[in-house]
Amino acid sequence: DKGNHRHFMEKEIYEQPEVVSHTLSHYIDFAEGRVKLDSAQIDFANLDRLAMSACGTAYYAGLVGKYWFERFARLPVEIDVASEFRYREMPLTGRMAALFISQSGETADTLASLRYCRDNGLTIGAVVNVRESTIARESNATFPTLAGPEIGVASTKAFTCQLSVLAALAMIAGRARGTLSAEDETGMVQALVGAPRLFNEVLQSIQPQIETLSRELSRFKDVLYLGRGTSFPLALEGALKLKEISYIHAEGYAAGELKHGPIALIDENMPVIVIAPHDRHFEKTVSNMQEVAARGGQIILITDEKGAAATTLETMATIVLPEVNEIVAPILYALPVQLIAYHTAVFMGTDVDQPRNLAKSVTVE
Ligand code: F6R
Repeated sequence: DKGNHRHFMEKEIYEQPEVVSHTLSHYIDFAEGRVKLDSAQIDFANLDRLAMSACGTAYYAGLVGKYWFERFARLPVEIDVASEFRYREMPLTGRMAALFISQSGETADTLASLRYCRDNGLTIGAVVNVRESTIARESNATFPTLAGPEIGVASTKAFTCQLSVLAALAMIAGRARGTLSAEDETGMVQALVGAPRLFNEVLQSIQPQIETLSRELSRFKDVLYLGRGTSFPLALEGALKLKEISYIHAEGYAAGELKHGPIALIDENMPVIVIAPHDRHFEKTVSNMQEVAARGGQIILITDEKGAAATTLETMATIVLPEVNEIVAPILYALPVQLIAYHTAVFMGTDVDQPRNLAKSVTVE
């Protein structure tokens, strides 16, 4: 049932405040203001490396998780798409654990990667949405995303719930390894607790602007997404979402890679969507935007109030979000990215919930 929404995808986008809150409450003690240590059955304190793998959108969630595990828990992460991971013959040692991410819990390549790690004796954790799935069954520890059934083929609410679980796990690992101060933990928990209400406000406030922008975007054949740090996986996700439902060719790049090739493509016919909260990468990303502007490229900037105030560049649109803690940013910035893809596809008249050639669950390699 789509309720009063036109598509399941739209319904699922608007469900995010509720399902993210529900998911977070599984891992965070809101009253205490701390993460629930016993919600992790992985001995993070004694690991020297974490292997991670997934496909598509779940892989991009994992990429954000890598930044978080390394930054907050000082735990090195090896991550790869599952179709590569399963054949890489990565050397595994006793002090590693493996973490897989899957909405359906049935993705063939992810399952094969899991079995490779299990056969090599690693403890297996899985972030899954479907709790009675094969991947959940074959894991030692399951970390549920409480997103509810996701019907739209393009993943939305499962992605933000995966990010929520990974944020909590990185904090749990940080506490276990003594690398995250109680003060930082409390600050991040407070930010996460307030996030769902903020998401509600943002979804309402940005919608008209994104509709106008999407009408313009639907005229283009190519779009480039850029981001740095945890905004880099968001750029990859933005490009994936746009291409899979609107069929507009889109690519996501680390902003710093611009001058290593893609800058050759910049002209007035390829809008560049820049994801840039005012974080410690902001200045660098601004200089990449200047390179784009100097070559006649049109910029769509997704930033916060501070970022908007700090740039004087002319843009095709600037989407301004509230300033948030860095652990909330990727979850918050997923919202405009999803809405841009959604509304552009609606203008193009494509089958949003059932895009051509795609299946919800990829059970063959
Ligand atoms: C993109 C999308 C896919 C899935 C991928 C993994 O919108 O939905 O890229 O994320 O096929 O699927 P799961 O998470 O079920 O393993």
